[in-house]
Amino acid sequence: MARKLVLLLCVILVCISCIFRVGSEQYCDCRRTGQTLYMHCTVPRQKEIFQCIGNNTDANNVYFTDSQLTTIPSALTMLSNVSYLNLERNNIEELDDFVFSYIGKTLETIVLDHNNINILRNGTLNALVKLKDLFIRCNAIEVIEPDVINSNLKSLINIQWSFNRLREVDLGIAFILVLSNNQNLVVNVSHNNISNVTNYYQYPISIFNLNDSIYVDLRRNNFTTVDVAYLLRILQVKSLQDLYRLGNCGFNINYNPLLCDCNLFPFAFYIKEFHSMDPDNPVFAITCDSPESLRGMRIFDVPMNEFNCSVEKDCPATCTCQFTVVCNLLTITCADDRLDALPSLIPEGKTIHMVIHSRNLRTLSDRSYLSNVSILDVTSSAVSTVDNNFLHYLDTVEKMFLNDNSLEILPNDIQYLNLTHLESLTIHNNPYICDCHTLWMKHWLLKNRIKILELEKIKCATGSGIGKAIIEVDDNLFICQSDYKTPLLISFGSLVLLVIVVCVLIKNKEHMQVCLIAHFKCCNCLRSKFTTELENDVFIAFSKFDNDYVIGTLFPFFKKKEIKYISYHDFMPGEVLLESIEESIRSSITTLAVLTNNFLESKWCLQEFYQAHQRFICDRNRKLMILVVEDRLDQSRLRDEKIQIYMKTNIYIATSNVNYLYKLLSALPRVARKNTSAESEDVPIHGHHFGDNSSTLERISDSFDSNVTGSEICGERTPLL
Ligand SMILES: *[C@@H]1O[C@H](CO)[C@@H](O)[C@H](O)[C@H]1NC(C)=O
Ligand SMILES: *[C@@H]1O[C@H](CO)[C@@H](O)[C@H](O)[C@H]1NC(C)=O
Ligand SMILES: *[C@@H]1O[C@H](CO)[C@@H](O)[C@H](O)[C@H]1NC(C)=O
Ligand SMILES: *[C@@H]1O[C@H](CO)[C@@H](O)[C@H](O)[C@H]1NC(C)=O
Ligand SMILES: *[C@@H]1O[C@H](CO)[C@@H](O)[C@H](O)[C@H]1NC(C)=O
Ligand SMILES: *[C@@H]1O[C@H](CO)[C@@H](O)[C@H](O)[C@H]1NC(C)=O
Ligand SMILES: *[C@@H]1O[C@H](CO)[C@@H](O)[C@H](O)[C@H]1NC(C)=O
Ligand SMILES: *[C@@H]1O[C@H](CO)[C@@H](O)[C@H](O)[C@H]1NC(C)=O
Ligand SMILES: *[C@@H]1O[C@H](CO)[C@@H](O)[C@H](O)[C@H]1NC(C)=O
Ligand SMILES: *[C@@H]1O[C@H](CO)[C@@H](O)[C@H](O)[C@H]1NC(C)=O
Ligand SMILES: *[C@@H]1O[C@H](CO)[C@@H](O)[C@H](O)[C@H]1NC(C)=O
Repeated sequence: MARKLVLLLCVILVCISCIFRVGSEQYCDCRRTGQTLYMHCTVPRQKEIFQCIGNNTDANNVYFTDSQLTTIPSALTMLSNVSYLNLERNNIEELDDFVFSYIGKTLETIVLDHNNINILRNGTLNALVKLKDLFIRCNAIEVIEPDVINSNLKSLINIQWSFNRLREVDLGIAFILVLSNNQNLVVNVSHNNISNVTNYYQYPISIFNLNDSIYVDLRRNNFTTVDVAYLLRILQVKSLQDLYRLGNCGFNINYNPLLCDCNLFPFAFYIKEFHSMDPDNPVFAITCDSPESLRGMRIFDVPMNEFNCSVEKDCPATCTCQFTVVCNLLTITCADDRLDALPSLIPEGKTIHMVIHSRNLRTLSDRSYLSNVSILDVTSSAVSTVDNNFLHYLDTVEKMFLNDNSLEILPNDIQYLNLTHLESLTIHNNPYICDCHTLWMKHWLLKNRIKILELEKIKCATGSGIGKAIIEVDDNLFICQSDYKTPLLISFGSLVLLVIVVCVLIKNKEHMQVCLIAHFKCCNCLRSKFTTELENDVFIAFSKFDNDYVIGTLFPFFKKKEIKYISYHDFMPGEVLLESIEESIRSSITTLAVLTNNFLESKWCLQEFYQAHQRFICDRNRKLMILVVEDRLDQSRLRDEKIQIYMKTNIYIATSNVNYLYKLLSALPRVARKNTSAESEDVPIHGHHFGDNSSTLERISDSFDSNVTGSEICGERTPLL
């Protein structure tokens, strides 16, 4: 009983002491050092807050952090001269225009990082006329009402809203501040979830002038593409000159999951255009995130023909279908043994490259789309028959590869085709029957030896010439069992003599051609004829360190032979270099690369080669030739993969050849010009991908004065700006 009484007494005592202590307990800590007031509460009690602030109304800097605040304390209205206010690490959910209306006259910086702010409402910031820095990082901002940043905020230059939940950002934020003459503006919305930008009030880009400096940090967001057509529309860009107004601006979208496909192509194009203007701008470090093969690569470095989109509609299940926007090219690849015939339906395309490998594909038959196929590759399959109707596409196709199949004989009708567009055909590694019925094949092969590659691998699989190249098998060995004796009737000696003469002539055809051109002035009779509207025959790409050779040897020769050539000497001073290169390659039938060590060391020369190569790939009417200047080229330094591959798969001319200049000449097409009005032809890059603005792309350089002049090209790279 006594113990119970003592317990009760204790409880009462504790309670009384409790009540007593509540009255006097301090939850907030209030310290002042000079003009800086530090406040920190475990429980934000109004009374203590008012006392602390009431005693320090003149403080300049106020820290009230980590104190469980859910609103901005109204006691702050007493601060008469605060310029820096830090409310980090609280639970504030709303901004308060009431408090701001008192302290706005002096406040320059407010820090609201690590709170729970979800929305920025119209009007809440209006009183902050002196505010320079607005930090609301690491909150939960999803919505920014239009007008929340407005012309009242006359001093605002640093907006830090990273680590929030924004999905869009309105460019009006920057525009309105520029309009209010705020200089060197930073809008940092990095680390959000932004995938699009808007322009709520449709401010036109003409608001900017070149003195305005804006940096919008959009890194680590969720942009998968940049829709250039949309941006140009919302910013009312009328010509490319307008875009140069953004001269001092950086819109950094690095570290976004950018998909480098056909949709990004126009943006990549702009990057390439703008790059020469300010190559060191970090904005140009933007990289691709996908597809896998391009991950981490700077968009600026990605070749234009890599911006592909896969096409789903009408693409056969066993194939992949890709669209390459820069060449307007559809590539169909079907490497699947389930395929037993050419696909009957494929996506529509103007130019189609088709690659098929299937161990069950035995017959090539007619398909309507074949007239649009420029490269057909059906190698390593089981083709043994070719429909006659299919054959007619040999007149429209440029390259056909049928090697490594099961063809025993070529269709007879192939002899009567003109093969006008055909550039190359492979039919080697097939088990050809060599008998009296196939003798014509030998003659056909010889007649078309220029177009048919790997002739020496086209071999007899049967007959007396078994294992030998068909073109090397004697005519009288093409015999059928029944007419075995026929050859005996023919005068053996004269036949052999004839064959030898023919062989010698044919073997040396190229030589003879060069000879004829060199010695009999038969310049035009043997060169292939070519009708064109292009202005120039040859664009000579060479390093300025090889000027002596090119000016001393090539120029006079071309002049004498009336070849219309251009080179960097013809670039207009002040033009953007990339444009000049592009334009020279565009306006010339052939690009001639003068390959030397200097060439390999020059970024610009390589750039010229790549561009010409790309055109060569995309346009069958363009030629790319390499002139190897042997005493200036150390072959071991030739490491550039594209040039190596090109030299392996195409003919190049070396200065060590006798009569190499004439060889060069004979390889140049003889040009007949249709109508030399200076009208520009349809160029894919400047073509139809930019909506209404395409025409504006063409002469950007007029307005933009880069320091590059012809003399720097192809030499050591000099800084552009
Ligand atoms: C404010 O000042 C009064 C005396 O002027 C003092 O009693 C009180 O403790 C002070 N309050 C704080 C929180 O410093
Ligand atoms: C306000 O603070 C500034 C220092 O930041 C000081 O120069 C100024 O005199 C103060 N004004 C008043 C009215 O106390
Ligand atoms: C924002 O508030 C102002 C008045 O403070 C009003 O005139 C304006 O229309 C508002 N803007 C929006 C988008 O609601
Ligand atoms: C933007 O914010 C991020 C994260 O806070 C920071 O790393 C970056 O430096 C900021 N950028 C600018 C321009 O302020
Ligand atoms: C990016 O957006 C996609 C959908 O648009 C979404 O699924 C994904 O979670 C977002 N990524 C981030 C980091 O927010
Ligand atoms: C990012 O935004 C997308 C919509 O654009 C949404 O589906 C996704 O949930 C968001 N991700 C995060 C982490 O908020
Ligand atoms: C961006 O938003 C606008 C309007 O909300 C829309 O028309 C456009 O298609 C969007 N762009 C992207 C890439 O999502
Ligand atoms: C840009 O600034 C320079 C120097 O400050 C000034 O002379 C020029 O007029 C300004 N240009 C514009 C368009 O404001
Ligand atoms: C895009 O297509 C071109 C032409 O077919 C091909 O050479 C290139 O490898 C493709 N690139 C990608 C990334 O798919
Ligand atoms: C072939 O190309 C033409 C344009 O040259 C186009 O109109 C036609 O639809 C294409 N055909 C196919 C089957 O893709
Ligand atoms: C081949 O060309 C000749 C003359 O150019 C022409 O008469 C003939 O019809 C053509 N043959 C075919 C199959 O196109």
